[in-house]
Amino acid sequence: MPEMIWINGETIPMADARIGVEDRGYQFADGVYEVIRLYSGKTFTLAEHLERLNKSAQAIRIPLPLSVDALSNEIRKLINVSGVREGMVYLQLTRGNNPRNHVIPEQCKPTLLFYARPLPPAPVPGEGEGAKLLSVPDERWKRCWIKSIALLPNVLAKSQAIAEGYDEAVFIDHGAVTECSASNIFAVISDKLVTHPVGSKVLPGITRALLLDIAGQLKIDVDERPFREEEALRASELFITSTTREISWVARWNDRYIGQGRCGNVTLALHRALQERVRQETAK
Ligand code: PDD
Repeated sequence: MPEMIWINGETIPMADARIGVEDRGYQFADGVYEVIRLYSGKTFTLAEHLERLNKSAQAIRIPLPLSVDALSNEIRKLINVSGVREGMVYLQLTRGNNPRNHVIPEQCKPTLLFYARPLPPAPVPGEGEGAKLLSVPDERWKRCWIKSIALLPNVLAKSQAIAEGYDEAVFIDHGAVTECSASNIFAVISDKLVTHPVGSKVLPGITRALLLDIAGQLKIDVDERPFREEEALRASELFITSTTREISWVARWNDRYIGQGRCGNVTLALHRALQERVRQETAK
């Protein structure tokens, strides 16, 4: 079966989908997106992702063409049609096609699309090599809480990291560790789980929020505060989180090993609890 896409209400083969040359997503990166994880053919934390989509869309004043309930139904139908069981859904909403003009048009017909893709299982923390991070200056805008498709700084940072033999780029804003090119970052410092607050500099990651909740249940102290690169380098554990990675333990930061290059116990405990949440939610 060809790969299928849902685009503006129609489910068609991906190869037949068309986007206008003057779609504002294409010309101005005028749009927002979500990446939603699938386990056993079921969505994980779909409601949280659609709530964030709604907030991102409202922030840039793009009306959602469907209610959140209707959208959830359409996403589930597309997943069934696609046959993808272990994977993700990529969803994108742009302001749609309009004669090129910087000014936001009064009338617009947004372009909404989504499709499912298989993914290999995420590596289990403690098994295999840990992630290697390269620090780069955070040169992004100040509305990082919006999940914008304008990802050029992230694309450049990640590509630089990969080209230099690392796995992920970590953004440094005036000495403070904000997040990575496509993941949030946590440090274990003096037995506390530390992560930068969400807002202007950090995306409110769905995995991040879930882990903060799990940490509370496991009675792990949490400190949402900016932390400095020097603190990160001395942390006993570091890990990064995202929908597609789940939790990746960090073994190296530039040329330094973190926590003797071994995956730490807090990371392992959080990972076990996250797996349990996935099992519970996808068994429903
Ligand atoms: N990226 N920070 C940034 C800049 C991200 O792009 C992402 C996710 C995260 C983690 O958010 P979540 O836990 O909700 O996935 C943090 C997705 C996976 C992507 O762009 O592919």
